[in-house]
Amino acid sequence: MKRGKLITFEGIDGCGKTTQFRLLEKYLRERDLGFISTREPGGTELGRKIRSVLLDGGKGSVDPVAELLLYTADRAHHVRRVILPALEAGKIVLSDRFYDATTVYQGYARGFDLGLVKQLNELATCGLKPDLTLLFDLDVEVALRRTQKRIDDVTGAASQPDRLDSEPLEFHQRVRQAYLEIATLEPQRFRIIPAGGSIEETYKLMMRQVEERIRKLR
Ligand code: TMP
Repeated sequence: MKRGKLITFEGIDGCGKTTQFRLLEKYLRERDLGFISTREPGGTELGRKIRSVLLDGGKGSVDPVAELLLYTADRAHHVRRVILPALEAGKIVLSDRFYDATTVYQGYARGFDLGLVKQLNELATCGLKPDLTLLFDLDVEVALRRTQKRIDDVTGAASQPDRLDSEPLEFHQRVRQAYLEIATLEPQRFRIIPAGGSIEETYKLMMRQVEERIRKLR
């Protein structure tokens, strides 16, 4: 059987990638294309527990070293239990974030040694790389305004900012710059999607990058 393809979604908090992720899921479902959708952290039962430890506490509640290792633990389990089996079964795998997030958030933005982060990423992923990474790029202040206005899907009440949402502006600026930098290092894998327009405009820009790749998979 032909191996499936891994498509990952990345970007700063509030960039709108999860909305686009849901729209791509809908597109694949309507065409009956075999896929699974997942995310990091939180793509497994263990991962959901790790996600809650990482994101539900207040600022400073998880030591940065523990944070780096928890994201890595989440990924090691996720890759082995979910992503690799799905790829081997020939499916398309959509993942809302993958190891680039650790490179950028823990490496560039928190300041961990990039060589160390690379080693941890390789350990967690067994060397697996995405076939395509969509980087949703947006001005940090616009993104943070969006995050503050985020409405809780279930209750309709304004949601509480999670731990990373409460980082200072400069942190998110470092994250944005780092994403743009790593994208230039691997131009074959990354596609930068300007995400400042409406949901429909961003969707069109995303599909321009994705449709061609998906056609080749059929
Ligand atoms: P999400 O809101 O896109 O699901 O991501 C959760 C938060 O976790 C987001 O602020 C980015 C952060 N994160 C890291 O710092 N390192 C990582 O390796 C991953 C996957 C996410």
